[in-house]
Amino acid sequence: MAKDRTRHVCQACGAVHPRWSGKCDACGAWNTIVEEAIEARPGPLGKEVAKGVGRAGARRIEFVGLQGQSAPPPRALTGLAELDRVLGGGLVPASAVLVGGDPGIGKSTIMLQAAAALSRAGRRTLYISGEEAVEQVRLRAGRLGLADAPLALAAATNLREIAATLESEDEAALVVIDSIQTMWLDSLDSAPGTVAQVRASAAELIRLAKTRGFALILVGHVTKEGAIAGPRVLEHMVDTVLYFEGERGHSFRILRAIKNRFGATDEIGVFEMTDRGLMEVANPSALFLAERRGNVSGSAVFAGIEGTRPVLVEVQALLAPSPGGSPRRAVIGWDSGRLSMLLAVLEARCGLTLSGNDVYLNIAGGLRISEPAADLAVAAALVSAATDQPTSPGAVFFGEIGLSGEVRPVSQPEARLKEAAKLGFREAVLPPKPARQGAGQGAKGRAMQTEGLQLAEIGHLADLLARFSPQRRTMRAPAKPGASD
Ligand code: TYD
Ligand code: MG
Repeated sequence: MAKDRTRHVCQACGAVHPRWSGKCDACGAWNTIVEEAIEARPGPLGKEVAKGVGRAGARRIEFVGLQGQSAPPPRALTGLAELDRVLGGGLVPASAVLVGGDPGIGKSTIMLQAAAALSRAGRRTLYISGEEAVEQVRLRAGRLGLADAPLALAAATNLREIAATLESEDEAALVVIDSIQTMWLDSLDSAPGTVAQVRASAAELIRLAKTRGFALILVGHVTKEGAIAGPRVLEHMVDTVLYFEGERGHSFRILRAIKNRFGATDEIGVFEMTDRGLMEVANPSALFLAERRGNVSGSAVFAGIEGTRPVLVEVQALLAPSPGGSPRRAVIGWDSGRLSMLLAVLEARCGLTLSGNDVYLNIAGGLRISEPAADLAVAAALVSAATDQPTSPGAVFFGEIGLSGEVRPVSQPEARLKEAAKLGFREAVLPPKPARQGAGQGAKGRAMQTEGLQLAEIGHLADLLARFSPQRRTMRAPAKPGASD
């Protein structure tokens, strides 16, 4: 076997190709394929087994039954409640967490805050920065008021040195590596940041975390395409993947669990970036609604669920006459395909024709919503914009809309209503109770949770249009099909 062979690896998805090409067949990315040297691995297992070497010396694995108890892993609370919640209740020892996000979004800031808080709680915490010099990290710590935290800080990128150090760590509860893209193994020829380096460095660090028992946090940058550079490979290797998101122009940041072997996914933590670092936002709804101005058309409040938590957000729609050609559909924070569907349903089932208009849709504050339950709120914002009438003040909306215009039940209506009531809303426009729900169960729960909240159950989009005064409607009479469910 030739020693100096190379292979071609896509830096976006890690797929290996026999030769260079402009486009990766596996993930469709362009110009991501890079030639990398194939590393001569020390002692490939295949060869050893074939030769019979190692078989004699290796320890046999032990099989067990499905019964028996293992205690839930004791967790280390970082002291940032929002982070702990997204992690599923704190850091799990001997686990690996990947924290991804755009450059400059605040990954280093939140990790420094979490690490400092954990060290203050008396747990040994190591922070290894590969991007910033010790002085820079100290400066930031000073600004954040963390300078007195007993955190062990180092600037290092050579994984051989880092591994040797961690190998002799008995006490460490948490090791933060900021970032995995700067780490490199001198046994590999590839440059730091390449798939080969990132994968090998992460594998080594994860192995150390498992054997030495510390929680490992790997910070990873996301490329323009949205994947952590190289490291879609990393998502498989770690136990938990968190993404730190936010719009540049907005001060709040959302930490989202994408994968979690020790907790729920789709859980979010909300932070606000201030000059004293990231502050936890205990009541995100209040923050998302802070800039809402009542009594304007084209706005509706959606009572959503993010992870396990209800979150209220404002949906804004703006219609403008289209200057001809194909009208514009610009969407921020929601799915544009879903908007097209809603516009089609509004036209076909309710006679509200918006095809001559440019449609702009925005989830205020920069939150990204993926729940179909937002359909009704989006429709309300659109109808409000089309009729130039504000939605009823103090009303929230939720419900999924089907192709025949029917409004369908969504999950956790009680939690949504409770949050709306808590924030002073007085009315909820929502789907009818599911018909097949067990005897009065839904009704009972709803009646209990909704003191002071008036419920307007609507079964069809036409019922939504009926809430806007007819004189000022600019559309044909709604053609409501007889049987909608
Ligand atoms: P940083 O944590 O360095 O981002 P990342 O590690 O994800 O690249 O955050 C950098 C940004 O955060 C920078 O633009 C300045 C801002 N920032 C604040 O607004 N307040 C603060 O207290 C700190 C430390 C940073
Ligand atoms: Mg950073």
